[in-house]
Amino acid sequence: MALLIKNGEIVTASERYFADIYCEGETITRIASGVSAPPETRVIDAAGKYVFPGFIDPHTHIYLPFMGTFSKDTYETASRAALIGGTTTIFDMCCPARDTEPAEGFRIWTEQSAGKSACDYSFHMAVTRFDAASAAQLREIVAAGVASFKIFLAYKGAFGIDDGELYQTLKLAHELGVIVAAHCENETLVAERQKELLAAGVRGPEGHYESRPPLVEAEGVHHLMTFAQLTGAPVYIVHLSCEEALAEALAAKLRGVNVRVETLIQYLVLDASDAERGNFEGAKYVMSPPLRDKRNQAVLWNGLRAGLIDTVATDHAPFDFEAQKTMGRDDFTKIPNGIPALEDRINLLFTHGVQTGRIDLHTFVSIASTNAAKTFGLFPCKGTIQPGADADLVVYDPHYRGTISAKTQAMNLDYSAFEGWPVQGRPSAVTVRGEVVVEDGQFVGTPGRGKFLARQPGYL
Ligand code: URP
Ligand code: ZN
Ligand code: ZN
Repeated sequence: MALLIKNGEIVTASERYFADIYCEGETITRIASGVSAPPETRVIDAAGKYVFPGFIDPHTHIYLPFMGTFSKDTYETASRAALIGGTTTIFDMCCPARDTEPAEGFRIWTEQSAGKSACDYSFHMAVTRFDAASAAQLREIVAAGVASFKIFLAYKGAFGIDDGELYQTLKLAHELGVIVAAHCENETLVAERQKELLAAGVRGPEGHYESRPPLVEAEGVHHLMTFAQLTGAPVYIVHLSCEEALAEALAAKLRGVNVRVETLIQYLVLDASDAERGNFEGAKYVMSPPLRDKRNQAVLWNGLRAGLIDTVATDHAPFDFEAQKTMGRDDFTKIPNGIPALEDRINLLFTHGVQTGRIDLHTFVSIASTNAAKTFGLFPCKGTIQPGADADLVVYDPHYRGTISAKTQAMNLDYSAFEGWPVQGRPSAVTVRGEVVVEDGQFVGTPGRGKFLARQPGYL
């Protein structure tokens, strides 16, 4: 059935105007004023609302075996939550353990997602070991449509790779024309500081910050920048959290390194004091890099406004408080890392960014959709509103007022890091390739209809 979105104010990364959007099948076919459509057309009245391109979360962990447990969402639960929150495409990290072959990892993540997701999705392929056999498989995985790698400079003994592997991975990425997303923290410094803190009797969640202070992250960024400069590989720094790390990335940019930067909604609205909450509540706020001193928030907002930071993701890594975060009750190094936010990213960014005047509407669309589509090879199918693009649309009500709560969220999780927080705005309707998947804020989509988005290398 055709779809017509009438009377809305269309906002893209570069334009803002009133027009109707007509979609046939999965695609936007016409944008004009006063579009009339055949009688059987599904019509959504967007008067008083914005119409944004579907939002893209470039960094999630829907399925993740990690720190002795498994992330709590499934592709069914996470994609429903994503769509309610206005996110129509996710990039999940395909993260096989070091002793698992990349091909097997890709098979497992495909099995976890295929036929289950209601939103579209792609993967970043984690390189957790580099040798001749894995390199051959990585080439095949890129050919199968996974045109980006992920590496970890942290998590010694788990996902982390050594410098030789880092160099070889970046050389391969450069040769194949794929971008490398990187978690930048110096794993040796983290491991040494964790040992020191535990030996000194620091066992609670507050120890997490001290084990990974800003310099540990800045060193990781500097390290990656050196290797990227020497190999010429394009790189994408995931979850950048602080001024010191941003300074390293910008210095490298000035040297000509092809680097893009992601921050997370969590770093923009939460801070280190949240991880210091008593009664083990701080464990809900343990992620890596850690939440930072509040002074960093202005730096990150300014970086987004100035175009120095490209994207806002979630790094959605959902672990329950009661049964999972408590695995680290007597040892902060065993608290599963992650602060889930897939459902809340857009509403928090709109509330704390647009409604406060920190960023304008075009920056909002750029950092939450368009830049990710361009960085990872989906543009202009995704990330904008134009004839020929996928009909992924978010009809957004800026007048909605509501409250975040674990009791009402769709994420499969026993807590919310934003419990009781007000939001000023929400998606009232959402479409994915022409299908209405959210109506009046409720999920009405089809589990399993989400498509794996194969991407070709060489898009940068
Ligand atoms: O704390 C985090 N970020 N958890 C997920 C794993 C990762 O580092 O991306
Ligand atoms: Zn990470
Ligand atoms: Zn991550």
